[in-house]
Amino acid sequence: MTLPRGLSRRDILLKIGIVFNGLVGAVLAIPIVRYILSPVTRGRRPGYETWLSLGSIDQFPAGQTRLASYRNPMANPWDGETANVACWVRHIDGESFQVFAINCAHLGCPVRWFPQSSLFMCPCHGGVYYSDGSRASGPPERGLFEYTFKIENGRLLTKAGEMPTPGSSAGIYGTRPPCA
Ligand code: FES
Repeated sequence: MTLPRGLSRRDILLKIGIVFNGLVGAVLAIPIVRYILSPVTRGRRPGYETWLSLGSIDQFPAGQTRLASYRNPMANPWDGETANVACWVRHIDGESFQVFAINCAHLGCPVRWFPQSSLFMCPCHGGVYYSDGSRASGPPERGLFEYTFKIENGRLLTKAGEMPTPGSSAGIYGTRPPCA
């Protein structure tokens, strides 16, 4: 093989090495750059504080508690069904609602609503809650976690992006006193 004029084998290998190292450096720099720019890019994505729609308020008849779901605002497109999070909506009357996290305040199992007894029951260790989410019996030390909500254009919106911390004695937003 004839080398280009003025270039030694050593020069060529050196240039190939520089290009190769540059490529590796660029690949390694991608996550660092993404981390540095994350406050900017995160600002464009919906976050914990986003109001999430639970659907039309007509879906929740007064006096009933119904299952609803929202899309986790921190989800990635590839999360699929796992980003759909269930919650319980209690329509008291008029514009008075309660939106409960589905997770038991003990260790986080999904609680079920039993309209026959007007109780939420946890299948894991027998935790029971009254219809207003307050603790009735069992191992949970507090009532169900409750999300803030608002009604806008006939739709029920909630700030449910922040996941509850089972076992915590404080409400998600500190607005709900611990239920004994
Ligand atoms: Fe519900 Fe333990 S997780 S009672």
